[in-house]
Amino acid sequence: MQKKLIITNATVVTPVGNSACKGADMAKLTVIENAAVKVTDGIITYVGPAAGLIIDSDIDYSLIDAEGRVVLPGFVDSHTHLIFGGYRPDEFSWRLNGESYMSIMQRGGGIQSTVNATRSESCDALADKAQWFINRMSEMGVTTVEAKSGYGLDTESELKMLEAIDCLASTPGQKLNIVSTFLGAHAVPKEYKGRTGEYVELMINEMIPAAKGKAKFFDIFTEKNVFEIEDSRKLLKAAREAGFELKLHADEIVTLGGAELAAEMGAVSADHLLHVSDEGVKQMAEKGVVATLLPLTAFALREPFAPARKFIEAGAAVALATDLNPGSCFSGSIPLTIALACIYMNMTIEETITALTLNGAAAVGMADKIGSIETGKQGDLVMLEFSNYRMLPYYVGMNCVNTTIHKGNIVYEAR
Ligand code: NIG
Ligand code: FE
Repeated sequence: MQKKLIITNATVVTPVGNSACKGADMAKLTVIENAAVKVTDGIITYVGPAAGLIIDSDIDYSLIDAEGRVVLPGFVDSHTHLIFGGYRPDEFSWRLNGESYMSIMQRGGGIQSTVNATRSESCDALADKAQWFINRMSEMGVTTVEAKSGYGLDTESELKMLEAIDCLASTPGQKLNIVSTFLGAHAVPKEYKGRTGEYVELMINEMIPAAKGKAKFFDIFTEKNVFEIEDSRKLLKAAREAGFELKLHADEIVTLGGAELAAEMGAVSADHLLHVSDEGVKQMAEKGVVATLLPLTAFALREPFAPARKFIEAGAAVALATDLNPGSCFSGSIPLTIALACIYMNMTIEETITALTLNGAAAVGMADKIGSIETGKQGDLVMLEFSNYRMLPYYVGMNCVNTTIHKGNIVYEAR
């Protein structure tokens, strides 16, 4: 029997389309008052005025009366480091005292300290811990998350991380879609300190072939004193040849040309971009590379926010994500992401909604399946407590979500 969900009395607010919304189009949302949405076997089969909805009398369905509340596409958190061992609260206090993120990393802390903790955890323990974070995400309306490896930094431990992601994705009743990314090029591990070239060779000859087919994306921390442009280009080429789609952590700490490299390599997204050059903005817009901006990281590192308006004015597609990780940004807060984007990055709430839905979907290569409320797309929806979507940034840093729906099933209800 078909499983159906019907929502009536909704204020549907959604971007429209099967690909990223660029530039000025990001502000164009479709709003349907007194709308109905029908989800059949996990797929949206009707969205429009309530009057147009045909209810088949012979079929069981669950009914939600939205009482005028806003219904949005489920949020897509398109950049997270969801799998990790341990925590780094000491490092956070060192940063509060003025030490920089890169200096902590260079003296063997930072990413390497999470690598030590992750290597000693089992796959099951890593997945269990990540599920707790997934449950919190679901409460904030996230219905798709991208999850990276990158705290193993040897073949076996990277594969263990990818397996943990795979286990989570195939957990029966999982609350969201999970997209996996191989981030073996997150840092040079301590056993290769001073021998970056040899680690790059290991990645090309052993790790990339081993991870082939086990993740959708390949990502790299392209940064001064980590993987600089030449090594990044080599690794990205090898990954592309192995069938991965590409992402980059680009121009996060210094202006290095990561954005330009993303454009050159045809990456799906370049992420962070706090220190992107004007040329990088232009090339990303021209090549259709999604600019994934992570305001929580800038906030937590006391860095300037990424130039969202420059990207939008250049006609690029901007996505927003949390960057949840145990180091630079231990937060997965969608409400705070929205507030920072609107208050400090001068994005409008309409652009912010597009950035967290359809453009997030494009950043994980799924804009044809999720990211908007249209027939044929997956039934991933979030109902707010309020009937006006402008409440989202106004209720600063607070959760406006009443109900989260994944594939037509209610996965979270505020009451
Ligand atoms: O996106 N900069 C590189 N990677 C992460 C941080 C990882 C960590 O500090 O553990 C980021 O900021
Ligand atoms: Fe990151």
